[in-house]
Amino acid sequence: MNDLDDKRLSQALPGWVPEVRFLPETDSTNRRAMAWANQGAAAGSMVVADFQTAGRGRLDRTWTAPAGSSLLFSVVLRPGTAPEGWPLISLAAGVALCECLAGLGLEPGLKWPNDVLLGGRKVAGILAEAAEGVVILGIGLNVGRVEFPEEIAATATSLENFSGRAFSRLHVLSDLTGRLSGLVETPPAEVPAGYRGWSRTLGREVRVDLGSGFIEDRAVDIDPFGGLVLAGGRVVRAGDVVQVR
Ligand code: BTN
Repeated sequence: MNDLDDKRLSQALPGWVPEVRFLPETDSTNRRAMAWANQGAAAGSMVVADFQTAGRGRLDRTWTAPAGSSLLFSVVLRPGTAPEGWPLISLAAGVALCECLAGLGLEPGLKWPNDVLLGGRKVAGILAEAAEGVVILGIGLNVGRVEFPEEIAATATSLENFSGRAFSRLHVLSDLTGRLSGLVETPPAEVPAGYRGWSRTLGREVRVDLGSGFIEDRAVDIDPFGGLVLAGGRVVRAGDVVQVR
């Protein structure tokens, strides 16, 4: 069902979103939002799509979702803070997603850095891309999706798949966007404290794929810039965590 259009979205979204563009089909909302930002889009401007032909994921992966099944959107942010702290933006978005899902009666958690989990399976992903004073924050949340390709069938879920209940994408997006105002308002130093409580990675033995190799250790903390601190003292800034125990 397509419950999204320009009019409904602009009525449902909070005041900190000055303009929203709904695209029934596009390549990638992150790409569209970055192009719009380069043309001067104000902070908070949002691109929402029903379907992406070239959705981007973290670590050069793709993000796919059947039309009508998911929330796929990107927000233009113009942080006035130093780039070292920008990874905290996507962590804060993960916290907002968890708060939103908890408000729906679900019990979400976060796998570092910002995979949102329900019952140990990924329900949402976050991709922040930065360029010269602009951060594009992209979120993909599986809402009504019931079928997944074989490669992710054992590790992915959706709100409906997990709970057996149907959810309005418009309602979820409206609630989530209200909570994302914290991205602009939360002082970066406060983000790790809010994040720790949702983490399903801290305290676990992890295997981290660094791209250049693997490291195994116990995850013990989030540092002030959003990095994953391992018991041996190493701080991981980018990588894919496979939880061992
Ligand atoms: C991940 O790999 O976990 C991050 C996935 C992020 C996907 C979303 S969908 C909306 C936005 N547009 C994109 O091209 N990617 C993000």
